[in-house]
Amino acid sequence: MESKQKTVLVTGASSGIGLLVASKLHENGYKVIGTSRNPEKYLAKLPYKLLPLDLNDDHSIVSFGQLLFSQIKQLDVLVNNAGYLVNGLAEETPIELGRQQFETNFWGTIKLTNELLPYLRKQKHGKIITLGSLLGLVGLPNVSYYAASKHALEGYFKSLRFELNQFNIKVVMVEPMSFKTNIGESGTVATGTIPAYDTFRQKVTAYTKSTFDNAPDPAPVIATLLQTIKEKNPKFSYPVGKGSSIALLLQHFFYKVFEKSILKSVNASK
Ligand SMILES: NC(=O)c1ccc[n+]([C@@H]2O[C@H](COP(=O)([O-])OP(=O)(O)OC[C@H]3O[C@@H](n4cnc5c(N)ncnc54)[C@H](OP(=O)(O)O)[C@@H]3O)[C@@H](O)[C@H]2O)c1
Repeated sequence: MESKQKTVLVTGASSGIGLLVASKLHENGYKVIGTSRNPEKYLAKLPYKLLPLDLNDDHSIVSFGQLLFSQIKQLDVLVNNAGYLVNGLAEETPIELGRQQFETNFWGTIKLTNELLPYLRKQKHGKIITLGSLLGLVGLPNVSYYAASKHALEGYFKSLRFELNQFNIKVVMVEPMSFKTNIGESGTVATGTIPAYDTFRQKVTAYTKSTFDNAPDPAPVIATLLQTIKEKNPKFSYPVGKGSSIALLLQHFFYKVFEKSILKSVNASK
């Protein structure tokens, strides 16, 4: 019954985690609004409303906010899910690709949150749940800009949580390990340009590919999102995935052990 009264906005609800969580919420009786850069491509297939939003376009963010609140009176939960992945070795990734990664994953998410915050503050309640990543807590090779963009989100929302407490707005991060979605295909891969990296690049590319190929179904992420949506007083951080607690523990207390195990896996990859 409580779910029927809640309106949830899920950005990037055309694919992967966003599509699954929006569908599940709709099934459970929530009023769901999703977003996509190309809603017309998906609308007919989806049971929930899909509005146009491009996080890389300031006009799109402003028009989206206006359109959204012309259609709803109250927004209970914002799920900042939209994002993508830039793959490649740090030195070989053109700065422009790194900038674009931040433009979407960090700045786009922040701009959208700012656009909606006046409404949330006015209604004096709400929840902002952002898809970080375990890579927002841990660094790995071949994903430096992605990891940096997710680390930046962690820091930003950690601060924002204190500031929004007075307005009864809860701020939460969900930090999944690798799960099977379209993130591998929808992202960008930087081209190798520096011969000195040839051997390492070959191994780390195989390591990344095997991580994608062996990634599990994202059901645990969806379950965690549903839990944080329902919870009255959620924590700040929700890492999700088998081995996430061990990875965090190792990198926190035994960094050299963590580093050694990653390098060992990369070097063994073909
Ligand atoms: N899958 C994983 O292993 C994993 C792990 C940790 C964190 N995450 C995070 O989970 C979130 C969802 O990723 P996913 O794995 O479900 O990937 P996905 O299947 O590729 O879906 C990404 C979604 O983001 C939207 N999107 C991408 N760029 C956008 C932009 N510029 N403006 C607006 N929307 C945009 C896409 O919508 P349109 O193309 O329709 O616009 C799509 O619906 C991301 O933030 C990702 O970083 C994923």
